[in-house]
Amino acid sequence: MKGDEQNEQQKLQKTIMKTDKNSQTLTSSGTLLQTEQAFPDTNPYRIIHGDALQELRKLPDASVDLVLTDPPYLVRYKDRSGRTVANDDNSRWLFPAFSELFRVLKPNSYCVSFYGWLQADRFLSIWRECGFQPVGHFVFVKHYASCVRHNRMQHEQAYLLAKGNPLPPQRPPADVLPWQYTGNKLHPTQKPVGSLTPLIEAYSRPNGLVLDPFAGSGSTGVAALSYRRRCLLIEKEAAYYQIAQRRLDNLPYHITHPYVDNDPEVVRVSRNLLHETDNVRVIQQDLKFIKVWLKPDRFQNIDITKPVGILLVAVLHFVTNDSEVGDILSFLKARLAPGSFLVISHSTSDGRTQEVMQSLVANYKRQVNDVKLRSNAEIAALVQGFELIEPGLVPISNWKPQLPDMLVGKPVDTENSRLLACVAEI
Ligand SMILES: C[S@@+](CC[C@H](N)C(=O)[O-])C[C@H]1O[C@@H](n2cnc3c(N)ncnc32)[C@H](O)[C@@H]1O
Repeated sequence: MKGDEQNEQQKLQKTIMKTDKNSQTLTSSGTLLQTEQAFPDTNPYRIIHGDALQELRKLPDASVDLVLTDPPYLVRYKDRSGRTVANDDNSRWLFPAFSELFRVLKPNSYCVSFYGWLQADRFLSIWRECGFQPVGHFVFVKHYASCVRHNRMQHEQAYLLAKGNPLPPQRPPADVLPWQYTGNKLHPTQKPVGSLTPLIEAYSRPNGLVLDPFAGSGSTGVAALSYRRRCLLIEKEAAYYQIAQRRLDNLPYHITHPYVDNDPEVVRVSRNLLHETDNVRVIQQDLKFIKVWLKPDRFQNIDITKPVGILLVAVLHFVTNDSEVGDILSFLKARLAPGSFLVISHSTSDGRTQEVMQSLVANYKRQVNDVKLRSNAEIAALVQGFELIEPGLVPISNWKPQLPDMLVGKPVDTENSRLLACVAEI
């Protein structure tokens, strides 16, 4: 490294360390971008148009499951049509970017980074300085030569870096992988999605967060979404940012089982419980806005013009305004396709003493939602007009009472059931 560049690196290193301390303060005051904010609503991806050095600082510590990135190779690349790559002519960004990537990665996780072989020493020394440990190396074999000089250049390469001591994948991929020519139509150094998917599959978990801060045309995002991971991309150049955005916007989501709750704690716990399951997404939303979030552009795999099943289980009593409950149910009745099923359970006030009711309501008031226990008659009025299948609106334990018996091995307590339940066929 040249002397002035080395000084520059040292200065930057100090700035980063200061920023790291500031980041901690920012985190505790809540002004950092939290993962929840990064993924509002139902979107499994987010693309930021900006400089990775600034944007990475806004991310919380230990929030990313896998970094898969293809940074500039430091080779002043120019393709035949004159296209260049931003920051390919200097290494000032290298240390700040990778030290931030180390910080935002969860402990015991992987970072896969492509790199330019001509600058291998520089990349390796910076990665080590940031705390990464090289634990593997990939060679992607091309069936064509991208350049012919002293040899025919027919491969790309990436290092597998570890933060801490990650558990190796159950089925580790080969370290020699195939490469399909992309034609570089979207970006001068566009990576083939098929070479990235084995890495996504091996080094991240379903619904985990994959980060690429040098996103180009968004190939990492396409690979991540096609394996049902969430992804966060950063790209500095407006033209490539727009290409990546369009590319990801046009991919179908794979959500077939959205699980919705308005309580952030419930959402957090549910995400932990459900993260291994394909197609399931836990979404923080309010039932009151079902008309908005059930639109087809939100869940492209859920088409309510075809039969669907909707479970409103022990939730309507948290919508305290009767006309709002009425709106939700009449919307579903009008919009769901024939053959759909709607499951409803609702806590009843019948059979509860005034004292129990008051303590229940007070208890819920301390949490996120108010609660309104309706009487059996009020609940029956809400589902009037729906075609209920046998046995109709009954205490929940009377609904197929033999089932809990079979499942838990003891008879159900039909006397003390305080939830009414029904299944409506649309
Ligand atoms: C090697 S290319 C990635 C190509 C990408 N893998 C694809 O398949 O399209 C690196 C990208 O990093 C972007 N870049 C360079 N410096 C950046 C920075 N500081 N912040 C964000 N993006 C940056 C460049 O504009 C370029 O698009």
